[in-house]
Amino acid sequence: MELRWHQYKYYPYELDLAVREVQAILSPRSFTETKHGIKLEGPFNEDAAERLVYFASLCGEDRVVPTMQAELERVNGNGQNRQSTRYSAHGIHEYKGKFNPQIARAILNILNIPVGGRVLDPFCGSGTSLLECAHLGMKAVGADINPLAVFIANAKLSALTMPAAQLQKALATALKKQKNGSLLRYGISDARYKYLSCWFDQDILMEIDRLRLALSKTEPVASRPLLVIASNLLRDYSLQDPHDLRIRRRKTPLPAQPFIAAFEEAVFQFIARVGDAQDVIKTRSPELAGKALLLDSCTMRLGHDGLGKSKFDCAITSPPYATALPYIDTQRLSLVWLGLLQPSEILTLEARLVGSREVRGESKKVLLTALMENRAGLPKNQSDYCRTLQAALSEKDGFRRQAVPLLLYRYFAGMAEAFRSIRRCVKDNAPFALIVGYNHTILGGKRFDIETPQHLAELAEQNGWIHDETITLQTYQRYGYHMNNAVNAEALVIVKAA
Ligand SMILES: C[S@@+](CC[C@H](N)C(=O)[O-])C[C@H]1O[C@@H](n2cnc3c(N)ncnc32)[C@H](O)[C@@H]1O
Repeated sequence: MELRWHQYKYYPYELDLAVREVQAILSPRSFTETKHGIKLEGPFNEDAAERLVYFASLCGEDRVVPTMQAELERVNGNGQNRQSTRYSAHGIHEYKGKFNPQIARAILNILNIPVGGRVLDPFCGSGTSLLECAHLGMKAVGADINPLAVFIANAKLSALTMPAAQLQKALATALKKQKNGSLLRYGISDARYKYLSCWFDQDILMEIDRLRLALSKTEPVASRPLLVIASNLLRDYSLQDPHDLRIRRRKTPLPAQPFIAAFEEAVFQFIARVGDAQDVIKTRSPELAGKALLLDSCTMRLGHDGLGKSKFDCAITSPPYATALPYIDTQRLSLVWLGLLQPSEILTLEARLVGSREVRGESKKVLLTALMENRAGLPKNQSDYCRTLQAALSEKDGFRRQAVPLLLYRYFAGMAEAFRSIRRCVKDNAPFALIVGYNHTILGGKRFDIETPQHLAELAEQNGWIHDETITLQTYQRYGYHMNNAVNAEALVIVKAA
């Protein structure tokens, strides 16, 4: 039997993960490389080959069986020569720090999580891993502190189990109501309106808000994915520069296509993609869909807040980056337009995120004391590292850089708390896989490479986990690439519950 590669160009780490998934779920006696893939020597579990992510098909003498991944990417893809990441419901909304869906699925394979297994993603964001679990028939629960993340993730999951006709009907009803709807009237003190009118032309604001009103009067389960699709278009139609990760006024003209026409087009595309994915995975059981919950992963507990009482078989996540750009900036319009937050609540949410850059007034002093006295009781390496950064600061470093050591200390302390609470939610020996980015900073004119994967592995070890393995994920420009330009952008860290 031979496993054949997809047609797209592989990153070195994908070839590595490909071999690992074969070893984990098929356990062949041995294998050898061939021109188009790898040849397996039996006996091995042929049925499980269907769930492989980095192979397109299993070929025997008289048959070729495509993998589910090949089918999903074929029907929803960019053509055979490109890896598709927007198949099924994945492309419904942009989200900063989104998982590559193939990596999420490869991890589930490498960890050999069985169909029906219970998976926790404690920083689930827009729910990439939850959707992959749903494709594979695993029951996943995600937690995120950001209401937009939870809203998007649940929309993806419900769309996957919903007949296309239900979405089409909701769309038709909403568009009819939107067209006939009366103009909205806001009270002068409506903070939401005041905020949105700074960022939208008046007629566009009326149009999108009539749509929101119409959708809010449509069947809730079906209207949620539609609201998410509309939310994904908001920045394009706003006065913000849609391509800037910060909030800046746009210099480019607004799109020529009216908002409602763009929305309708996006919905049709989405319905087609999800319908195709449903045909491939052949399951629409809402039971298997999983769910996302609005929870703080540093404090969550089994038996509370909808988390259920039974322990999870594994956890998988891409945690927040250390001192990343503000997550929420590009999402402010969506959070307010969807009514998930009041404008005045945005900074509070920002400050609660692990990895946030938000520090104000007195709390800088409090953080400095915490760092210098290691109040969070971090392992020596992490505490010393933050102090080294603090000592490297010079007066020439601006206020953002002055805060880096404090923010890193707070990030480590937050992740330590998260490791403790996630440990309480999983079974003994359960694996926990994290995709972690590397960072660097320049302080006092000197460059510091922050080995976040190693730091997190050590923090996990101090908080109920045993470090199993760290796999470097090398990337470079995939198309028109040059191997010499490979960089270690991220790592897959695997720990096991002690
Ligand atoms: C890198 S993103 C995850 C992206 C996700 N894998 C996806 O595919 O969309 C990290 C997430 O951690 C969330 N987060 C930050 N602090 C949190 C906390 N204390 N509890 C739960 N989630 C938190 C952020 O809101 C963000 O969505």
